[in-house]
Amino acid sequence: MCGIVAYIGEKNAYPILIKGLHRLEYRGYDSAGLALLQDKVNVMKTKGKVSRLEEFCEDKDTSGTVGIAHTRWATHGEPNEQNAHPHMSNDKKMALIHNGIIENYQVLKAELLKRGYEFESNTDTEVLIHLIEDIKKQHANMQLSEAIRLALTQVVGTYGIVVVSIDDPNTIIAAKKGSPLIVGIGEDEFYVASDGSAIVEYTKRVVYLKDGEMAIIRKGEDLHLKTIEDKKITPYVQELEINLTQLEKGDFEHYMLKEIYEQPNSIADSMRGRLNVKKEVVSLGGIIEYEETILRARRIIIVACGTSYHAGLIAEYMFEELVRTPVEVEYASEFIYRDPIIYEDDVVIAISQSGETADTLAAVNLAKTKGATVLGVCNVVGSSIARATHAGSFTHAGTEIGVASTKAFTAQVTVLTLMALCLAKRKGKISRTEYYEMIAELEKIPEKVKYTLQTDALAKEIAMYIKDSRNALYLGRKYNFPIALEGALKLKEISYIHAEGYPAAEMKHGPIALIDEEMPVIVVATDGDIYQKVISNIEEVKSRKGKIISIVTAGDVEVKKLSDYVIEIPETLEMFIPFLAIIPLQLLAYHTAVLRGCNVDQPRNLAKSVTVE
Ligand code: G6P
Repeated sequence: MCGIVAYIGEKNAYPILIKGLHRLEYRGYDSAGLALLQDKVNVMKTKGKVSRLEEFCEDKDTSGTVGIAHTRWATHGEPNEQNAHPHMSNDKKMALIHNGIIENYQVLKAELLKRGYEFESNTDTEVLIHLIEDIKKQHANMQLSEAIRLALTQVVGTYGIVVVSIDDPNTIIAAKKGSPLIVGIGEDEFYVASDGSAIVEYTKRVVYLKDGEMAIIRKGEDLHLKTIEDKKITPYVQELEINLTQLEKGDFEHYMLKEIYEQPNSIADSMRGRLNVKKEVVSLGGIIEYEETILRARRIIIVACGTSYHAGLIAEYMFEELVRTPVEVEYASEFIYRDPIIYEDDVVIAISQSGETADTLAAVNLAKTKGATVLGVCNVVGSSIARATHAGSFTHAGTEIGVASTKAFTAQVTVLTLMALCLAKRKGKISRTEYYEMIAELEKIPEKVKYTLQTDALAKEIAMYIKDSRNALYLGRKYNFPIALEGALKLKEISYIHAEGYPAAEMKHGPIALIDEEMPVIVVATDGDIYQKVISNIEEVKSRKGKIISIVTAGDVEVKKLSDYVIEIPETLEMFIPFLAIIPLQLLAYHTAVLRGCNVDQPRNLAKSVTVE
């Protein structure tokens, strides 16, 4: 949450900052602002999206080769211009942007108020800049970096910050704890950003700041790093793994639709080099060293949030069926605060697209302190969770920009499937024939997903039907239960129609009371050993006049008879149905949101990367 971008060099900073903010807008879009070093610190900020900031700046002085910029997802203080970043010191000489939460801001603020500092906003962030100013005032000639360092020693909470000062116009200072920050190194210029997407077109050479590290960036000098404890560090330069074309919408109207359509390729990319049907090999290089540990594990605990949690539920069913190791799936936010029992011979798998979700990261750290082996399934290379885990496998779905996760989800399921298959084989829990049948079918999934995308027109037609509904119920059983949850999440997050996912049989214990002729019930009723049971659940809905929209296996007869709308998906093994069943549900949510005039890529109140607890 909150996007940060900063530039120092010889070029005009403004266009770089604005473009960077657009790229980071998925991290929050409540307000946007920037500060340019001119003959003064020129701060410009507006409520709302980056485009509003751009309009505001049109007739303003946007010169300057040093600048910082921010797009906000509000935590403390409502989204308005006053609370937008950058925040300035009282003497107007310094400006600061921040991503994270300063937990002890009230104590710090009370002290600063006593000392005569005036606050313009209701944010937690503003205390930082006044604290820095106060320290500077108390120590004449103290360098900006030192004042920032001392201020940060007083802070409890999380931060990624960048500070500029007119007294030191050739310097920017960045520091990080708990919120991501990278420094990009160009030719005689530097960039700072929350993630690589904001700077990839200028440089691919980056340094990922670690928690408790500061970067002192001066024009014409090498990058200096040190810790908050004042220990010098040698920068470790890495290559950014982002492809620029993934950051553009191409011919698609929205990123979400583009990303839905990318799934045949992204799933194939997740499998690339890991699945070889001819040689009957499935191998995940990132976890090879840990295979024995996983096989000996007492238990696998999966921690995740949002869509990644749903991928975790699918993995639970798969791991228990194929590997026969007990699996628990936990919302990371619950896991960390309920004093969970974690054994040293547990294996914890953290699933996260961004690799930055604060709760999931906290769960990783908790599990590590208890001595468990912690693996990551992340999409973003170099992300905090990817670095904090002992080992893991990247999903390689490519950059996902739409706030509603689509291709990252199917890529997570792909990696988790590969993991389950290679462990099951090593453990001897499935026969060679079964194993072969599964890997051969898995290889066909990208093609079948491509075919399933043909349901697009029908999904649009059904969207016309459900677009004015106030509620929707999604039902599924076994592997289709997590798909019901994910389908409902997609609809509610982008179209704002209240939707719930339920295990089809559980409907009798509550949601059935909601069913009437106004209620669309989306049932994933594909072939499998509980097909007949799901039909009974559909009958229960039907007899209460609910409208049935069903996702069935091609050639289905029985469910069709009971349905108002039917979407057919190709036949596959029961375990792999989620890959296909989710496609029409993603499309249904997408078209419904578009028809309702919603901002599909940037739904209200949401952010793609949730870096606050
Ligand atoms: C946010 C996003 C979701 C995502 C969830 C977990 O809520 O809007 O799309 O599933 O965070 O994010 P992660 O990056 O950890 O998968």
